[in-house]
Amino acid sequence: MAGKKLGVGLIGLGSISFAHEAGFGEMGEACEIVALCDINEEEINSRIGMYAAAKGYTRYLDLLDNPAVDMVDITVPHELHYETAKAALEKGRHVLVEKPITVRSEHGAELIALAKQKGLKFSVAENTHFVTAYLKAEEILKQGILGDILTVRTLIAGSEVHRIKDPNLWHGKAPYGGVILDSAVHNFYLFKWLFGGVRDVLGFASKLVPEGEVEDNGLILGHLANGAEYQLNTSCTFEIPWTERVEIYGSQGGMIIDQLADPVARYYLGSNDYDGVILEGVPFDPLGWKFASMVEEIRDFVLAIIEDRPPRVDPADA
Ligand SMILES: NC(=O)c1ccc[n+]([C@@H]2O[C@H](COP(=O)([O-])OP(=O)(O)OC[C@H]3O[C@@H](n4cnc5c(N)ncnc54)[C@H](O)[C@@H]3O)[C@@H](O)[C@H]2O)c1
Repeated sequence: MAGKKLGVGLIGLGSISFAHEAGFGEMGEACEIVALCDINEEEINSRIGMYAAAKGYTRYLDLLDNPAVDMVDITVPHELHYETAKAALEKGRHVLVEKPITVRSEHGAELIALAKQKGLKFSVAENTHFVTAYLKAEEILKQGILGDILTVRTLIAGSEVHRIKDPNLWHGKAPYGGVILDSAVHNFYLFKWLFGGVRDVLGFASKLVPEGEVEDNGLILGHLANGAEYQLNTSCTFEIPWTERVEIYGSQGGMIIDQLADPVARYYLGSNDYDGVILEGVPFDPLGWKFASMVEEIRDFVLAIIEDRPPRVDPADA
C-alpha cells in the first residue's frame, strides 16, 4: 500500500453509513472514498459531491469492478451481508461488514474461510470493542479489582417501533431476523471479549408490535465460560434513547456501566462503599458514545490493512 491511498467503496448509504463515513474522513490521507453504492439513487446523488474521485453505483457488483476499490464497507440490511461480502471477497477486496456478520451462522463461517483463503482482511463492524466504557472496564477486570466474576447483567434497548410499523422498511421482517440477531449480538460479543464467551443459553422471545413478523423483545440467560451467571435483556420497544447497560458483580466488588447515567461508569468495593469509584475518561454522551466507537472501529480496520495486521475484531467472535 506504500504511497497509495486506500480506495474505499461504501455499499449501503443508510442511517449507520454516516458514522462509517465519518470514520473514513478522520483517516486523512490514509484512505479515500472512491465508490458509493445504494439501490436508492437519491442517496448516491446527495453524498457523491463530497468526494472528488468517487463514482456512484446502484449495483454492488458494478462497484466491485472498479479497480480503484481496495476495500468495501458493507452497511446494507442483514440479509444481504452474506452475498455482498462473498462477492467482494471473491473479487479480492478487503471487507468490513456491519453486524450481524450474516443471518445464518454457516454463511459467516464460509466468509471467514474465504477471506483466509484469499489472504484478505475481513472483520465485522462490532463497535462494542471500541466503546470507551468497555475498554476501561476491561482494564479493571484485568487488574482483578472486582474479584472472581459471579454475575453479569446486560441491557441493550431502544425503540424501533415506528420502523417496524413501516411496511417499506426491512426492520421487523422475517428474513432479517428480530431484535436478538440485531442487538443481542453486541452483548454476546461483549461476553466473548471480556468473559471468554457463554457456556449455555436459554432464551425467551416476545413479539409486542403486531405489525412485526419477528421478536422485538428477548430475555436470555445462562452461564459464562467461567460458570458465572448472565442475564441479557434486549428490546426494540423501549421508548428511551438507544442505550446499553452492563452490570458486573464479582466476589470483591461490582461495576455498573449505563450510557444514560451520569457518570456513565462506576465500581463499588463492598456493601459500605456508597461513593464507589468513577471510571475516569468515560464521557457522558448518550447521543455520541456509539458514533465515537464506530469512528474508532473504522480507524482500526483501515490501519489493519495498511499495517498488514489482524483487525481488533476477530469475525469468528462476532
Ligand atoms: N453497529 C451498530 O450498532 C449498528 C447500528 C445500526 C445499524 N447497524 C447495521 O447496519 C446495517 C444497515 O442498517 P441501517 O440502519 O443503516 O439500515 P438502513 O435501512 O438505514 O440502510 C440500509 C441501506 O442499504 C441500502 N440497500 C438495500 N439493499 C441494497 C443493495 N442490494 N445494494 C446496495 N444498497 C442497498 C438501502 O437503500 C439503505 O440506504 C444493518 O445490518 C444493521 O444491523 C449496526
